[in-house]
Amino acid sequence: MKLKSVTAAFFSPTGNAKKIVNEIAQEIAAQAQVPLRTIDFTLPEARNDDGTKGEGALYAFEPCDLVVIGTPVYAGRIPNKILPAFQTLFAGNGALAVPVVTFGNRSFDNGLIEVRMEMEKHGFHTIAGAAFVSEHVFSDKLAAGRPDEEDMQSMRRFADAVAAKVRGIEPGGFDGMAEIPAPVRVKGEDPIPGYYRPLQADGSPANFLKAKPKTTKDCNDCGLCAGVCPLGSISREDFRTVTGVCIKCQACVKVCPLHAKYFDDPVMLSHTRMLEEHYARRAENEVFL
Ligand SMILES: Cc1cc2nc3c(=O)[nH]c(=O)nc-3n(C[C@H](O)[C@H](O)[C@H](O)COP(=O)(O)O)c2cc1C
Repeated sequence: MKLKSVTAAFFSPTGNAKKIVNEIAQEIAAQAQVPLRTIDFTLPEARNDDGTKGEGALYAFEPCDLVVIGTPVYAGRIPNKILPAFQTLFAGNGALAVPVVTFGNRSFDNGLIEVRMEMEKHGFHTIAGAAFVSEHVFSDKLAAGRPDEEDMQSMRRFADAVAAKVRGIEPGGFDGMAEIPAPVRVKGEDPIPGYYRPLQADGSPANFLKAKPKTTKDCNDCGLCAGVCPLGSISREDFRTVTGVCIKCQACVKVCPLHAKYFDDPVMLSHTRMLEEHYARRAENEVFL
């Protein structure tokens, strides 16, 4: 089958999913010698989530398009506040899709299968999937420096295999439509049982849903933090105030040049210590073709 275009689509508050999706999509586009498009739906404006509440399916595809679509895994799933984007923004119309997730050295649990299910529900044919490890935004001790060169090479190998699989899809049928393989089988449970429940260092449940970033006196009101918040939750009038929901993505913490944003919620910090203690090993990437 001959592709017409490849799209890199991602939600990526601190850039890991973006890096991984871009690498894979670029390599597939280069192999297929077709243009590469980008859809970054990290910010509320790109999701029609800025109060205007648009009517869904902003991004429509055609049968000879391929989209590599990715997100970080939060609590073993698609971040729950971003699930509506997967359910309303994309119309496949028979396009091919490659679901990709990134995870911070613990587990991707049901994140990848959830992306696969959503894409299949919205008119895409999923032909491959992958879960790649990247540094956990809560701790520089978890998957530090990943994706590293070894990971990047394995992304390129995966992309080459996807490109070969696409080439191998035989055109056939009465109107020249390609014969599409069954949805890719990936790791995960169907139906999905629920979200991963975080634990504290002592093994008790860790509920830190209400935690929000705090601001030190070093803040000089540059406003970068408000510009990167995927939920638009940092006040544009006072960058020290969180007016909406916080998903703990760390975009504001990582973007601040003065390191003026931080979390000090004791339960959240205890969960991070638990992760550092139990998930220090080098987690493996997993690809599905
Ligand atoms: C709220 C939250 C929950 C997370 N849950 C998981 C998880 O269940 N398993 C895991 O391995 N990593 C988890 N992570 C780590 C992220 O998947 C990882 O840091 C990823 O690289 C972030 O991607 P980004 O740079 O595109 O924002 C979580 C991160 C956050 C902020």
